[in-house]
Amino acid sequence: LATVVVALDGPSGSGKSSTARGVASRLGLRYLDTGAQFRAITWWMLQHEVDVHDAAAVAARADEAVLASGTDPQAPTITVDGTDVATAIRQADVTGAVSPVSAVPEVRARLLADQRALIGEGGIVVEGRDIGSVVAPDAQVKVYLTADPAARAVRRAAEEGGSDVEATRASLLSRDTIDSGRATAPLTMPDGAVHIDTTDFTLDEVIDQVVALVGAVE
Ligand code: C5P
Repeated sequence: LATVVVALDGPSGSGKSSTARGVASRLGLRYLDTGAQFRAITWWMLQHEVDVHDAAAVAARADEAVLASGTDPQAPTITVDGTDVATAIRQADVTGAVSPVSAVPEVRARLLADQRALIGEGGIVVEGRDIGSVVAPDAQVKVYLTADPAARAVRRAAEEGGSDVEATRASLLSRDTIDSGRATAPLTMPDGAVHIDTTDFTLDEVIDQVVALVGAVE
């Protein structure tokens, strides 16, 4: 397990974060939330009044923010230039801007280097959109999680403390469209991934299935 890499990809609200943290906690692995990194860069762009819809402007400043990600699955942390942004990156302004920022190749290139450095020798569960396809194509375990859009909206709205389900659904689907359609590292089911549709499973059942996949490669 010391060197295993578990790649967990899928659209927003498919259950990636809860599953990834649960698997890492159970197996004593580290955990990396790459979505939090894209959100943190987006937060920095908003703070510095960069127009997030101007790809050239975003690209020009893609390298400036200094990120640090804590990889304990029980208490993951993220800072930008030393500021704890764990709460700020979940706010609606960041959620609304993250997909266009994430489509900028310079942002992805910069985070790819950060992500590979953090993955290091392995022993980690990594969640995102392009982990099995681009960031860690040699991962021993690749999982692609999906769920019905309705189920995803209900879960995400509850996570956000009771947001409007219909607005959350529209926001999820809009991010899916941008994330799947972009030219660089789009959301896709990677070669060799096991597809789990989580709609009708409990979180524990999904964690069990992924833990079993890890056990099978050991
Ligand atoms: O996982 P989460 O919903 O927090 O991700 C936020 C956004 O970050 C996604 O909608 C996507 O635009 C971007 N992202 C990405 N590649 C990843 C992880 C997240 O483009 N590996």
